[in-house]
Amino acid sequence: MEIVMNQYQIAVVVGSLRRDSFNRKLADAIGKLAPPQFSLKQVKIADLPLYNQDDDADQAESVKRLKGEIAAAQGLLFVTAEYNRSIPGVLKNAIDHASRPYGQSAWAGKPAGVLGASVGAIGTSMAQQHLRNVLAYLDVPTLGQPEAFIHAKVGLFDEAGNIGADSKKFLQDWMDHYVAWVIKHAS
Ligand SMILES: Cc1cc2nc3c(=O)[nH]c(=O)nc-3n(C[C@H](O)[C@H](O)[C@H](O)COP(=O)(O)O)c2cc1C
Repeated sequence: MEIVMNQYQIAVVVGSLRRDSFNRKLADAIGKLAPPQFSLKQVKIADLPLYNQDDDADQAESVKRLKGEIAAAQGLLFVTAEYNRSIPGVLKNAIDHASRPYGQSAWAGKPAGVLGASVGAIGTSMAQQHLRNVLAYLDVPTLGQPEAFIHAKVGLFDEAGNIGADSKKFLQDWMDHYVAWVIKHAS
């Protein structure tokens, strides 16, 4: 099979604005496990205003930018923190923005994967389940298995920021399934 570089653009949404976010590091590191046909790019959500339905007819430039990046992508990757047993407000805010105006959602039909890392032992499992609920409504086909509830502990990343030795096989397997999922749904 011919390999076309960057054939699949993946919009990566990180559910944390924290400077030293484990989830952003995870998004950076997992991108290195993707094949050359895949190009993963993190979208900016920090400058989005708080969602207000009054603005649907006149969306902010940052919202239009986000929607454009989602529309141009062949797939989505959510890498999220867990806040109080759900997804952080910043992530929900971004999802709500790009879902509107009604009937003009940018998300529908884009194949997605969900990952998350937390300092807690349950590794964002509840946030991920809440996110899956939202994505189901938005008609986003989301990879079911393997699930990836990542415990952010020493050794998760090596000194170069790559996935550490203990998690590499598991996350490479996750990436292989994700790649197959995107190719299946994007064609
Ligand atoms: C407001 C808030 C709520 C949190 N709630 C949870 C939680 O429900 N489950 C959990 O495992 N960790 C929780 N944490 C801890 C996060 O897992 C931890 O801060 C993690 O580093 C966040 O991800 P990040 O490094 O990508 O920002 C919470 C942290 C904050 C600030």
